[in-house]
Amino acid sequence: MINKWKRLVYPALIFVLLFSLSACGNTRNGTTEESPVHVSEQSSTNEETNSMSDGSGISSQPANQSSKDSITDVKDVNETPKSRILVIYFSRTGEQYTVGVIDHGNTAIVAEMIAEKTGADLFEILPEEDHYPKTYKELTDVAKKEQNDKARPAYAGDLPDLSNYDTVFIGAPVWWGDWPMIMYTFFEKNADVLAGKTLVPFATHEGSGLSGFDRKLAAVCPKAAVAKGLAATGTECQKDRESVRVKIDGWLADLGVRESLASAASRNTESSVGDDDADDDDDD
Ligand SMILES: Cc1cc2nc3c(=O)[nH]c(=O)nc-3n(C[C@H](O)[C@H](O)[C@H](O)COP(=O)(O)O)c2cc1C
Repeated sequence: MINKWKRLVYPALIFVLLFSLSACGNTRNGTTEESPVHVSEQSSTNEETNSMSDGSGISSQPANQSSKDSITDVKDVNETPKSRILVIYFSRTGEQYTVGVIDHGNTAIVAEMIAEKTGADLFEILPEEDHYPKTYKELTDVAKKEQNDKARPAYAGDLPDLSNYDTVFIGAPVWWGDWPMIMYTFFEKNADVLAGKTLVPFATHEGSGLSGFDRKLAAVCPKAAVAKGLAATGTECQKDRESVRVKIDGWLADLGVRESLASAASRNTESSVGDDDADDDDDD
């Protein structure tokens, strides 16, 4: 009887022990040697945030802490940007931490919710060559090497014309306690055109929170205003979208995004009044 009990309980104890080790590990710089994921969420503070007022209606207020319709084609976005707000993001499908194999990236889910709620244009940053493995462990190895090498992986194709936007929401998964290196490629290439704009960071993660995304963004784009960011876990993106929606609503309200939407709406109304050349054929 005791032997039977041991056969049942010991494997369960070993599983719990192994899982705890992979989640916690030895912490270094907010990450671990063995696993990039650690469990104590650190939220970003306003002091870390480089805030400026640019009249966009978005301020750096404390935040609470996201239907893939379509990702707009760059050409369409540049010819008829429908908003002064852009949501730009990087995200991966495949095997992800704790949520298994996913076909809709966690950060993509948040990005799409933000775009839906703000009426923003939406753009996904894709690697020029998709060298990122679809299995979690292999992906963490590639990401760690890129971080160690301070790599600047190229992204594919053309970006939307960033000069069309006042406010740019920028999101990515936390990779080893930091933005994925491909995001630094984007920041460094576009720091000049992002100057004077309001940048709003958002992250998905599994325990590290925003991981200083705002502070790191402000450092690499020093002439932009960086507003308070939002962090959501990949698990809630996959399993509890309603709570992510609620978070995003509170955050957007704190940021005053409705105000900027209202002014964008009035701008659109003004420009369409008496616009005899308005072309209705574009709605197809
Ligand atoms: C390479 C890699 C590194 C990661 N590093 C961290 C980390 O340091 N802290 C954390 O909380 N989560 C970490 N995660 C978990 C991801 O941030 C999380 O699963 C995220 O939601 C994935 O988003 P995506 O589906 O948009 O790519 C890591 C995941 C990967 C693949």
